[in-house]
This record gives sequence, structure tokens and C-alpha cells, in this order.
Amino acid sequence: MLDPEEAVERIRAAFRPPEGHRTLHAKGAFYAGTFTATPEATALSRAGHLSGETIPVTVRWSNAGGNPRVPDPKPDIRGMAVSWKLPDGTATDLLGQTSPRFPTKDPEEFVALTEASVNPLRLPLFLLRHPHLVGPVLSGLTGGALASPVSFAEATFYPIHAYGWVDAAGTTTWVRYSFVPVATRADRLDETFTGPDRLREEMAARLARVPVEHDVRVQVAGPGHDPHDPTAVWKGARELLAGRITVTEAVPDPETEGAVVVFDPTRVVDGLELSDDPILRYRPAAYSESVSRRMQPRDR
Ligand code: HEM
Repeated sequence: MLDPEEAVERIRAAFRPPEGHRTLHAKGAFYAGTFTATPEATALSRAGHLSGETIPVTVRWSNAGGNPRVPDPKPDIRGMAVSWKLPDGTATDLLGQTSPRFPTKDPEEFVALTEASVNPLRLPLFLLRHPHLVGPVLSGLTGGALASPVSFAEATFYPIHAYGWVDAAGTTTWVRYSFVPVATRADRLDETFTGPDRLREEMAARLARVPVEHDVRVQVAGPGHDPHDPTAVWKGARELLAGRITVTEAVPDPETEGAVVVFDPTRVVDGLELSDDPILRYRPAAYSESVSRRMQPRDR
């Protein structure tokens, strides 16, 4: 297994980011809002944030690459990281991105694909050598996962991994999330935003008028749906609405004041269970390594 320190070193070597920024998803901004679960979610999990009470959330929308100064119009996957602050003081996180499918179960292959994607000339050769990745990579390209959205408010984000929902009786149901925008083209602002930071500018203008909402939908695993494989497609899975995230305002990046905020997909609370998905299990060590690199003085 690739050492997480080496994984972060290799990704940083590919992007050559300035010190003090995230290794991936380096450009992003923080927002505050709330989440309210539906009774269907409450019935399937006893987790505190799924109780139906309105719970505060922190959201970070980002561009996936390692360059904190990348112009927003450049094609890239986008991220939506969400942290729920539960009434008992605990927290749980989900990290979504715009590609519905994750290409591999092997962390090293993900790192190699990331390295190859930075150089468009290397990518075709890499895919020739890894033909099983052609399908997932092409579905990302053709499905619009890399297109620069008009607004983060219009993008759908997929947290990829399955999580177990444990109900009051101790029964586990495996689910996979998506964050589906409530806003449509009809809700677009009259102004157009075209500059390098246009996604943040558009969001500021939109939030000055209305909150930005994403429905949290889940697919519920049925027979034959593997919760431990991040590349699995759950054909025919039942779907339900689990709740709604409502973002109301931009908030300052806590890291400019010396705090460190890490969204961790394995941060769960009672009522949630982690799968044995090898990508999910690998991520915390890579994120910790990225955080220690990020603690270096920030080079703007
Ligand atoms: C082996 C697989 C993966 C590796 C090595 C990896 C690596 C990283 C690293 C190093 C960071 C920066 C962490 C920090 O400094 O706080 C990051 C951030 C992020 N990753 Fe991953 N990642 C992987 C898989 C995924 C998957 C499957 C998703 C989506 C479902 C994802 C979504 C994100 C998001 C949204 C962020 C930004 C979090 C924020 O806004 O702070 N990553 N990733």
C-alpha cells in the first residue's frame, strides 16, 4: 500500500502548490447554514443530525486541483464538504464531488491518475496502460463533472462511499448520498460572472438574495449492492430524500486566523457505521499528512 506521506508528496509534486494550502481542493471558501432531516431518514438512523431537528452545518465549496489560484472557468471536478455540528458537541462530515463515480479501489492508482491528469499529454498514455479506468474517466468527462458550473448552487455532488445507518433497534441499512441542487436555471441571477474567482463572486451575490439549498438524497442498498466498493454502481437501488442543506452566508476561512479545519469522511457519530471501502479507510492518513503540510506558513 502506498505510504500516505508519499501519496501527498507525489500529488504536491504534480501541482507544485505554494505551501500552506490543501494538497487537493486547494481553492475554496467556507459557508454556514443548517440541515434538517426527513422522517424517513430519522426512521433509518438514530444519528443526532438525522433527528429532524435543525442542525448547524459548515460547508466548503472548492475546485479539486492543488492550485489555490486556479481560475474558476478552468475544467475541474468541484467539491462540497459538509460538517454537521450535533447538539451534543460531536461532529460528522461528508465530502462530495461532482463526479458520480470514483474510478478505482486502489489509492495508488488514484494518485497515479491525478498525476497523469495534470498533464493532458500524459493522460491518454496512462489510460492506454490502465484500460479499466477509461470508462469511469470518460463518464466523468461526458457527464459534465469537470465543466465549470454557472454556480455551486446548480451542481450535484456525490460523497461516493456507502455509510451504514443504524436505527434505534440496531439494524444497519447501507446508503450512498448525493447533494442535489434545489436551484434551477430559472433561479439564475441576472448578472454574469466571468473572472477567475467568479464562483465565489456569484455565490456572494446569490446569498445576498436567497439561501442556497441542496437536497440530501440517498440510495438504499438492496441485494447485490456492495457497500465496501467505491466503484460499485447500485443499479435499481431505492432512493429517498434524507433532508435539506440550506446555506445562508459566507464565513471567513478559519485558517487565515491560524485554526485548522479538516473535513474527514471517517468522522462518524453513533447511528453511523463505516464500510471497509479501501479508499475511505485510506483517506484520513492522507488528509492528516496534507494538514501537516498545510500548517507551514502560508505562501500567498
Ligand atoms: C485515495 C483517495 C483520495 C486521496 C488520496 C485524497 C486526497 C485528498 C487530500 C490530500 C485532500 C486535502 C485535505 C486537507 O488538506 O484538508 C483532499 C481533499 C478533499 N477530497 Fe480527497 N482524496 C481521495 C478521495 C476522495 C474522494 C473519494 C472524494 C469524494 C467523494 C474526495 C473529496 C475531497 C474533497 C471534497 C476535499 C476538500 C475538503 C475541504 O474542502 O477541506 N476525495 N483529498
